Amino acid sequence: MKDIFLVDNPDDYLTLVNKSYKLSKEYIPSDLELIDERYSDGNKYLRKKAKIAFEKMACDIMKIGLKIIAVSTYRSYEYQGSLFNSYVLDKGYGYADMCSAKAGCSEHQLGLAVDIANESLDYDNFDKTKEFDWVCDNCYKYGFILRYPKDKSDITGYKYEPWHYRYIDDIGIAKYIYDNNLTLEEYLSNLKR
Ligand code: DAL
Ligand code: ZN
Repeated sequence: MKDIFLVDNPDDYLTLVNKSYKLSKEYIPSDLELIDERYSDGNKYLRKKAKIAFEKMACDIMKIGLKIIAVSTYRSYEYQGSLFNSYVLDKGYGYADMCSAKAGCSEHQLGLAVDIANESLDYDNFDKTKEFDWVCDNCYKYGFILRYPKDKSDITGYKYEPWHYRYIDDIGIAKYIYDNNLTLEEYLSNLKR
């Protein structure tokens, strides 16, 4: 079995949370803020800077006649655990492990991840929308990255998630990750070399 480490810098915007780096049960970001109801399907929270950046992106895409909605944002440790368990019951452990994080292993607990859909709210088919094309090519300008790209499951541990974006705050780094088609794992491990 792989080692699992406890994340000791959960408030850092570049913090890695995945199957190997886990958040404590107690971690709740201290600056969660409610997203404007025009840009969510109701009662969705992100950390302050991520919320401001997401609202700016959602406002800018409206200027070209498109619309994005946050359908999942901050999730508590407990809620993530129940979500994972419901996937296991529904689809089996193998499938659940490729598409849902276990409690503590989700960056939704960081309050820095947002699942995006267009007005249809059908996030599963987000990659077939014009909104996806725009978000994919522009999200770095707001400090977001596509967190689980196509063909990178061996690195991220999860199947392609065209709807899941991670706020990392630094636009320069987000652009570098976008330009070089990197995952956060690859970017951070290159830094250590
Ligand atoms: N779907 C992603 C991996 C999560 O559950 O955080
Ligand atoms: Zn997500």
